[in-house]
Parts: sequence; C-alpha cells; structure tokens
Amino acid sequence: MRTAILTISSSLARGEGEDLSGPALADAATAAGCEVELREVLADDQAAIEARLRELVADGFDVVLTSGGTGLTPDDVTPEASEAVIERAVPGIAEALRAASMQFTPAAAISRATSGVAGGTLIVNMPGNPKAIGEAFPVLAPILGHAVRHIGRQGGRTDGEH
Ligand code: MTE
Repeated sequence: MRTAILTISSSLARGEGEDLSGPALADAATAAGCEVELREVLADDQAAIEARLRELVADGFDVVLTSGGTGLTPDDVTPEASEAVIERAVPGIAEALRAASMQFTPAAAISRATSGVAGGTLIVNMPGNPKAIGEAFPVLAPILGHAVRHIGRQGGRTDGEH
C-alpha cells in the first residue's frame, strides 16, 4: 500500500517545533503494512492542502493519512480540504476513529476528521497529536488493507472473497 503522510500545521510548517505526529503516524502505518513513501508538513492553508491531495491522488497513492487541523480553531481546514477532493465519502472510518477516541477523551468529539475515496486513494484525517494517533490508529490498522483491496477492485467481488 503506497502511503503518504501529511502533517498539517502552520507553526510546524514555519519551522517552529518538531513534528511528532507525522513520524508517529508513519511508524503506525508501516507496522500496519503500509509503505510510507512520502512524509510532508503543510501549513493550514486549504487551497494548498487541497492541491497537494489532488497531486497525491493523481500519483496513484493507495492511502493518504493526514494529521492535524481537524478541530475547531479558525485555522483548522483539513476536513474542508479533504472533502473538496473526496469523491466518495466513507464516513464509517472517521466515525469509528472518533468513537474509539471518545474512550480516551471526550474532546475527541470536537475533531471533524473525515474519510473517503478520491480516484484510487483512501484519504483519512487523524487528529494532530501523537497520543491521539496512538489511541486511534489501532482502529484504522485492520481496515486499511481491506479498504484498499476494494478500492482497487476492477470487476467486483469474486465468490467467497471479501
Ligand atoms: N483523539 C484521541 N484519540 N486523543 C486525543 O487526545 N484530542 C482531541 C481530538 N481527538 C484527542 C483526540 C482534541 S483536544 C482536539 S482539539 C481534536 O482531536 C482535533 O485535533 P486537531 O485539530 O489537532 O486535528
């Protein structure tokens, strides 16, 4: 599974502080069977995020995971940028991540993270801190391979295959 990881944070993009969530997400994705080919930090700039997502979809990435920018501050635009690119919403993934996260903190409810498919690419937003990624990723890990196989399927399901 060709995978790209985008950390979305204006302060990190300015070089302030160290990106901890991107590496955490990359490690978790690798352990789940992803080949992480690309990891980038982008500012909270909706047009720029949208443009980068479209390039990654066109590049044929199987999975794009974003970290951060899903909350309620005026800067948080990751869900809007993702929704502009997503062609088929897959709300269940984001809902499952949010539901699992609620067991750790009620604040998980304010993440507006979204998930869906554009071209042949699964896009999933995650909250932007390493603790949140550690808590939520175990829910995503067993879904990824299954989702990617279905997205790539050309002729529909073969008997007995799921
Ligand atoms: N999810 C988990 N599992 N653990 C957390 O600590 N933090 C929440 C939420 N989701 C959190 C979580 C908080 S405090 C916020 S503000 C939102 O994610 C949005 O975070 P983001 O803007 O960095 O994406």
